[in-house]
Amino acid sequence: MMNKKIAVLPGDGIGPEVMTQALRVLNVIENEFGIKFEKQTCLIGGVAYDETGHPFPEETKKICDEVAAVLFGSIGGPKWADLPSELTPEQGALLPLRKRYGLFANLRPVIVYDGLENASSLKPEFLKGLSILVVRELTGGIYFAEPKSIDGNTAVDTMTYSQSEIERIAHCAFQIAMKRNKKVVSIDKANVLMCSKLWRDIVGKIANEYPEVECSHLYVDNAAMQLVRDPKQFDVILCSNMFGDILSDEAAQLTGSLGMLPSASINGETNFGLYEPAGGSAPDIAGKGIANPLAQILSLALMLRYSFNLEEAAVVIETAVKKTIADGLRTADIMSDGCRQLTTQQMGDEVLKRLN
Ligand code: IPM
Ligand code: MN
Repeated sequence: MMNKKIAVLPGDGIGPEVMTQALRVLNVIENEFGIKFEKQTCLIGGVAYDETGHPFPEETKKICDEVAAVLFGSIGGPKWADLPSELTPEQGALLPLRKRYGLFANLRPVIVYDGLENASSLKPEFLKGLSILVVRELTGGIYFAEPKSIDGNTAVDTMTYSQSEIERIAHCAFQIAMKRNKKVVSIDKANVLMCSKLWRDIVGKIANEYPEVECSHLYVDNAAMQLVRDPKQFDVILCSNMFGDILSDEAAQLTGSLGMLPSASINGETNFGLYEPAGGSAPDIAGKGIANPLAQILSLALMLRYSFNLEEAAVVIETAVKKTIADGLRTADIMSDGCRQLTTQQMGDEVLKRLN
């Protein structure tokens, strides 16, 4: 029987508030589809540090080792930013989680839902109907390579990429592109960085195995500009870890808000995945009940699709979100004229009503 255990890691800031809404959605889906997940809620991030002295406690590791997928909220905040780096929520929990489970493929779908083209700071005609997928390498590059240190006035970060690390993420991007509009733009800085020279070379070779997919290469600075100049030229954007981090935040703004961007971090071999909103813990609005829960709810849909192969259930959730937006219902971050502004909980209610 398929492993139906999931770990629920709400974390810090708005994490717990938006997670509550995603779990309500999951509950309805379980009933509707006659499936049952065994859920275990664990501590992660700043709250875990406060309670146990470590942002990624042993108990949480043990539980995550047993499950098929992790539904993750968000972590971090000013309260924990000045801890020694190995104890911060980012360096002590999130990055080790990604590494421990080999979650090398990070998928960030950037979708402008009908009605939300007015929520962005860009002109609506550039955004209507936009759908881009950022495929970000997540367990290598400058985030992880050694040496990494700070010594008095001098700090060092090292970037390395191996052929196999580039090959596997490139295959992932091309395979997904085959199911989309068959266009991959690979991002690098091959005019300056050795890692990028290797990246461009290997991606070019892998591209030959996918003759139906059009592959091109852009320097990251140009890509950042092209993303706001004419975003519809993109289908799949393939990036290394750091470039993907930066470009996916930029792309999120095309959707109107970071609160709309779900993400899936997958181990391409085992289908183990960690599903989290890309937007972070938003400590400034935490506890106010106004955060946008849609990225968390959409991350749940990605979990059902990629870790459990429940495509139909994923589509039910995504369609409910689409309808909610189309009906003019908004949280504060995506509010515009003529729409109705809702709290986090009310947004959850409205999505629930449309889950059929
Ligand atoms: C993200 C976040 C993380 C990253 C941080 C919190 C370490 O910004 O998932 O995009 O840089 O990967
Ligand atoms: Mn980021």
